[in-house]
Parts: sequence; structure tokens; C-alpha cells
Amino acid sequence: MTRLARRVQGFGTTIFAEMTMLANEHKAVNLGQGFPDFAAPEFIKEAARESIAAEINQYAPGSGQPRLRRAIAQKMHRHYGLVVDPDREVTVTVGATEAIFAAIMGLVDAGDEVILFEPYYDSYLPSLQFAGGVPRLYTLRPPDWGIDEEELEALFNERTKVIILNTPHNPTGKVFSEDELALIARLCTEHDVVAVVDEVYEHIVFDGERHHSLLAMPGMRERTVSISSAGKTFSVTGWKVGWSVAAPELSQAVFRAHQFITYSGAAPLQEAAAHALELADEQGYYEELGTMYQAKRDYLLQALREAGLQPIPPKGTYFVMVDISELGFDDDVAFCRYLTTDVGVAAIPPSAFYTTTGGGQMLARFAFCKTEAALEQAGRRLRRWRGV
Ligand SMILES: Cc1ncc(COP(=O)(O)O)c(C=O)c1O
Repeated sequence: MTRLARRVQGFGTTIFAEMTMLANEHKAVNLGQGFPDFAAPEFIKEAARESIAAEINQYAPGSGQPRLRRAIAQKMHRHYGLVVDPDREVTVTVGATEAIFAAIMGLVDAGDEVILFEPYYDSYLPSLQFAGGVPRLYTLRPPDWGIDEEELEALFNERTKVIILNTPHNPTGKVFSEDELALIARLCTEHDVVAVVDEVYEHIVFDGERHHSLLAMPGMRERTVSISSAGKTFSVTGWKVGWSVAAPELSQAVFRAHQFITYSGAAPLQEAAAHALELADEQGYYEELGTMYQAKRDYLLQALREAGLQPIPPKGTYFVMVDISELGFDDDVAFCRYLTTDVGVAAIPPSAFYTTTGGGQMLARFAFCKTEAALEQAGRRLRRWRGV
């Protein structure tokens, strides 16, 4: 008899941990887990050291350091034209992951339906299960990951409470277009649904593409919880400084759950994140970040193509999906295991991000938030494997 509560019995080890272990064991270049393997910017590290030295070492307020909440509100104004009240509309959390969990716990009752796009970031479904929510899935299909209006509309009904959206989207690299967001806004308004939008890759977009925030779309200011974090934008995924921005009532939903999940996160790191947000625009940081990732994306796309593989170019995020249907493997797990153990390059099998049986089986996800040296080595190994 297991001592584990039923609610966690179905949760195995995450695919990231499993592939990272395999990658380490076989000394593979790890293009699996999505964390930068290069140094974080000096100005944000210095700000963290200074905050600790300045004795910002005790509990942050439950809703977050005031300076960070102000910096987030100002950024929302600069980037999306939104007027945000830092005291009533911002909640700082332990990473975007906690913000997502708190939003779901604060908004979803047992039996409520929640619309999700698959493939999905892996924490959404377990968070929903904790709340007793019922997932209704919309499957995004390669190569363009488009949305069919009728198919999406058919998922909405009187039990629908929330739709969870991630744009730019991990793992597909899709950036939801303005028209797609307008469709989602219309459906949310007509069916009185709240949108929880995970925007952690908001500053990583390519080819002149623009990220649009659903919060700024007509009719959505009162029914959107926008979630982001410092991790991807400032290459400090280990800091776990995230936040939500939403109208006061929705912020209350997030905050009430958050106060009994973690209460608050690391105060000096919140202060350092505030410093980074205050400076980023005037220093052209976001453009630099976009340019850096565009070069890494283009490099990996070329390396994959040179090895005779078929990448699906992403418009945002630091992931690229590859179509593996012509490579003769049984599925994505077999392919990613082989690639890690025999070729020396680790990737993630995306079937872990699908509920639908068979979803993602002919795809593999590669992360390019890695040093040039790592990407070069991966390219060399892939070419050698393919004999080119
Ligand atoms: C779509 C998405 N949301 C959230 C996260 C996690 O964000 P955080 O580290 O801020 O919790 C990730 C990390 O990979 C992600 O890809």
C-alpha cells in the first residue's frame, strides 16, 4: 500500500529530470532542459549582491517588494500601454510556475472546466488536477500550429471557467497572432471566462514578430491574469522570481492562494529583479536579448538542416521542434533516448506535453538557450551521425 496521497500518485519524475540525468550519464550536449548555460548579466547579479549587503534579507511583503511591483507596473505601461496599480494589481510569486498554480487554485473550483492548448507547459495539468478542474484540450498541429475558430469555440460552454494560454508558446515556438488573441478575447467575453496567460517568453521573439498581451486587448483588462517572470528574460531561471498582473478581483484570487502556498519569495532577488526591470528599456536590453536569441535560433536551424533534419522554425521562445517522422524511430521517446546515448545530443520528447495519445510522437524539442560552443558541438555530432 502506498503512503502517497491519491492526488500525487499519478505524478512521475518529470521528463526534464530524466533526460538531464541521461544526458549527464552519456556526456551529451544538453539541448533538453530550457535553462541558459551561459552567465547571467552582470548588472542583475551585482544588484542581488548589493541587496543582500544592504540587509534586504527578511521576508518580502506577501504581494512582493514594493519596488518590484512598481517596476512591473511601469513596464506593463511602457510595453503594452496598460495602467496598472502596483498595490492592487500585482502579485510577486516564486516563479511563473507558482503564479500559474495560485491563479488556478484561486479561480477554479472542482468540476469547473478549463481550456488548455496542447502541447502544454508541464505544470498546467497537475495544477489543474490539484484544484479538481476538468481539462478541455485544444490540440495545436504542426507545422503552423494554427487555430480553427469552430474547433476552439466548441470547447466553450457554461461550465468553462478559465482558459490557459501560453504565448510565445513552449514547446512549439508559436506566437499567438493579434487575430487569434482577438478570437480568444471574443470567446472569453461571450462565455464569461477568465484567461490565464503565461507570457514568460514575452521578450524572446524573432523576425520582427511582436508579442501581444491579451490583457491589453479590448474587453480583456477585467478578465485576464497575465503571468511572467525574470527567469527567461534575465537568464536567471534559478532565481524563481515571477509575478501576475490582473484587475483587483482577479489579483485577489491569485494573492489569497499565494499567501498560503509560499507567502513570499526571496526579498533580495526581488529587489534585484526590480533593478533589472528599471534599467532594461533604457539600456536596450530587450533588443539585445532578442538579437542574441535570433542568432542562436538561426544557428541551430542551420545546423539541424545541414544534418538533414526538418526543424519547424519557431517565432518565439528558445525552443525548436523537429519533425522526426522520416527518421524511422518508433516514437519521440525512442528517438530522444537514442540521440542522447548514441549521438551525444539531448532533446526532449514532446509527447510528455500532450494528453492525447500519440500527440507529439513524431516530434522532438531542442533548446537553443546555450553557448555557441555547445550549439557548435551539437551541430558537429548531428552531422557526424547523419554522415554529412
Ligand atoms: C511556458 C513556461 N511557463 C513557465 C515556466 C517556468 O517559469 P518560472 O521558472 O518562472 O517558474 C517555463 C519554464 O520553462 C515555461 O516554459
